[in-house]
Amino acid sequence: MGELLEGSRSLLELLPAGTELTQGVPVVGGCRLDQIAAEAGTPVLVVAEDALRARAREYADGLAARWPRSRVVFASKAFPCTAVQRVMVEEGLGLDVAGGGEIIGALKAGVDPRLVVLHGNAKLPDEIALAVEHELGLVVVDGPDDVDRLEAAVPAGRVVDVLVRVIPGVTAETHDSVLTGHDDSKFGLAPTDAQALIRRIEASGSLRMQGLHLHVGSQILQTEPFAESVAAIARLGEFPVYDLGGGLGARYTWADEPPSVAAYLDTLVEASRAHLPKDAELIIEPGRSMVAAAACTVYSVVTVKRGRHTFVAVDGGMGDNLEVALFDQRFEAGVVGRLDPTHHEDDELCQLVGRHCESGDVLVRDVALPRPAVGDLVVVPATGAYCFTMANNYNGNRRLPVVFASDGSWRTVVRRETWEDLLRRDVE
Ligand SMILES: Cc1ncc(COP(=O)(O)O)c(C=O)c1O
Repeated sequence: MGELLEGSRSLLELLPAGTELTQGVPVVGGCRLDQIAAEAGTPVLVVAEDALRARAREYADGLAARWPRSRVVFASKAFPCTAVQRVMVEEGLGLDVAGGGEIIGALKAGVDPRLVVLHGNAKLPDEIALAVEHELGLVVVDGPDDVDRLEAAVPAGRVVDVLVRVIPGVTAETHDSVLTGHDDSKFGLAPTDAQALIRRIEASGSLRMQGLHLHVGSQILQTEPFAESVAAIARLGEFPVYDLGGGLGARYTWADEPPSVAAYLDTLVEASRAHLPKDAELIIEPGRSMVAAAACTVYSVVTVKRGRHTFVAVDGGMGDNLEVALFDQRFEAGVVGRLDPTHHEDDELCQLVGRHCESGDVLVRDVALPRPAVGDLVVVPATGAYCFTMANNYNGNRRLPVVFASDGSWRTVVRRETWEDLLRRDVE
């Protein structure tokens, strides 16, 4: 029954900022979700463009006001779609990239290459070559092998600016799989190893040692780990640049209470004032907290089975949202057209599941839905982060489209995959 009470809370709290309800239908970016679904088909990932832009500005203005020599770079991996990268560029942000596809998307989005930061614990030679060719602003070296490859790739007479990724040794409270700043992490170097690499870079003719990088992890719902991580890396000495990573958590469910962007920035900047050089440049790399809440996914119900459990299966699942299977992330859901409170007396405890061949293909366990039926549209809020990223072709799934809704109209920015797309790489 507890879950049914939860279900009676308004899903509006979790849908993109600015969403309104008309006859129980969420109106996102001024567009009714049932109309988008009718025209674009389902499943469809709907982004409220204005909410996305507002969040980008909240981050950029908030950091600039607190630490003027600073830069926000969007962690492209959270929503690696050219149109999203372009929004960030238009709002004056830089881009963090961690793979070749993210680099070419960033360039297509029109980013100034000097505002791009390249990451990766195992960067491939062709990614390093792209970084050198396009003169990306900063390469974050993860270890000595990166330095070997980078030095070999830099043409005579050129110098590449680098940061060294340091493990701050901070274990934040989050899912183990998205923890990165703990001792023994596969990312970056322990402080003593980092010191040796820093000395090597300082002596390099083709690399310039610009500073340090850290990233504590993702979906972090407290501010203390961020402050601890700044104090930890400050012990390595003074540098012109400090990139403090991303990691602020997003609100997926009513129980989540992530710190506000302002509280997060207050913490980071306070720790930076206490521990870092006053004239250093600060960079942050928000991903999840930048995009999660700006989008939602709309599905159609394909089957309903009532027995010991009520299974409501939709036309998507782990092919468009792996966050549940990989990280046990809790989402919420509602039936489009029945989101207003008058329908809560019909609430039924349901297992919202996908159409893929795994029992782990669950979108939301124990969610209250008002008498769901075949053909209903179901909306899952807060799917803007890492869902598009990990969309896949499991069971021959055609990856879903992304639409931007704003001011009462919507447009497709990534089309749905076609059957031809699925066969395109066949050689025989
Ligand atoms: C180096 C780096 N920076 C930034 C991010 C973005 O983190 P989040 O999406 O949690 O803000 C990640 C995510 O894993 C990362 O690895």
